[in-house]
Parts: sequence; structure tokens; C-alpha cells
Amino acid sequence: TLIHPPVIAIDGPAAAGKGTLARRLAAELGLRHLDTGMIYRAAASRLLAGGGDPDDPAAAALAAQTLGADDLVRTDLRAERTGEIASKIAALGPVRAALLDFQRSFGRTAPGAVLDGRDIGTVVFPDARAKIFVTASPEARALRRHEELRGKGVASIFADVLEEMRLRDRRDRERAVAPLRPADDAVTLDTTDMSADEVFAAALAHVTSRL
Ligand code: DC
Repeated sequence: TLIHPPVIAIDGPAAAGKGTLARRLAAELGLRHLDTGMIYRAAASRLLAGGGDPDDPAAAALAAQTLGADDLVRTDLRAERTGEIASKIAALGPVRAALLDFQRSFGRTAPGAVLDGRDIGTVVFPDARAKIFVTASPEARALRRHEELRGKGVASIFADVLEEMRLRDRRDRERAVAPLRPADDAVTLDTTDMSADEVFAAALAHVTSRL
């Protein structure tokens, strides 16, 4: 295990707090951080910018296969529509296959990395040093997303955000390829009633016990 840089896998549904947790863990442990959702979002953004049909699997696969560093700095990556298209094309095997190498090389590069996404512990790094599945009730996640949008000055209706959240959950969990699920050896953290500091402390305790 001393030969391989350590990889920490953080998976879970949208707005469960994976990103914040992964970033803090990486900073604390001196590891690199990759939000893998941004890669799916970049492929979606590239597809939309090129005028490709989001429902055409071949166009989606091409967008993923031709993804470049430029796509990772697109301005619409965090937009709701980009996330929705990302979730759609993420159900396609060829799209996922095209994005696998980048994620694996990132994790294998010294000094190691924290990757957050949906299938890091199950598919991308099944032999990760530590795996955490971060979850929370749909209501709690929708409320966090709703407050985040309002904080940015974006008009937001809670019921709509909750409905979107449920749709996204269903699509990510029920797809045939690399569905969202905890790895058998993952530790699950239900953050519904936890503060970000509590989540960080619990995750850090688990990860340091595995390093
Ligand atoms: O975490 P996010 O909302 O930025 O991710 C956007 C979509 O990308 C998500 O709904 C499903 C997909 N995704 C995936 O399938 N696998 C990953 N490892 C990360 C994201």
C-alpha cells in the first residue's frame, strides 16, 4: 500500500455535502481533490455548446470522448440544466467509459487524491483506501440546494427543487451502468441532522483509521 498514492472515495446523491467534505479532507490530508461530477457536467456543456442533441447517445459519447481541459472551465458547469443533462448522459456506458481514464490517472498521481462522485468506490476505485457514502433525506438536500440558490440571488421554489432532486436521485440510482449505491465496504454517513463540521470530523476519523 505504500507504493500506491492513497485514494479516498466519497460517493452519494446530489447536495448531500460530498463536495465540501471532499475538499476539506483533501486540504487536511495534503491530497488532491477531484469533483468528478464536474467532468460529467463538462461533457454535457460541451454537447450543448456544440448544438448536439442531448437525447442522441452518439453525440453524447462524442462529446465525452473529445473532452479537453478547456471544457473544465466552461461558465455554465454549475447551472441546473447542465446538471440535468449531465445526469442523463451519465447513464450511457460509452460516456462513462470515455471519462474513466482521466479519473483513474488523477487518483494514481502522487500524493494521492480524494475523489467525489457517484461510483468512485464501486467502479472507478473499487480498491480505494477509504470509502464514505454521504447521504441525507431528499428534503434536507433540497433545502440545502434551495438555500444555496437563494444565497446566490437565484429565484427558487422549494417544491420544485425537491421534485428535481427526486428525479435526479431516481435517474442516478436506477441506471443500468454504475448506478449510485454504497460500495459493500463503504461507511455511510447520514448527514440529515449533522453540521458540516460534524460530518468532517466523522469522516476524518474514519479516513485516518485507514491511512
Ligand atoms: O455531483 P453532480 O451533481 O455535479 O453530478 C452531475 C451528474 O453527473 C449526476 O447527476 C450524475 C453524474 N455523475 C455520475 O454519474 N458519476 C459521477 N462519478 C459523478 C457524477
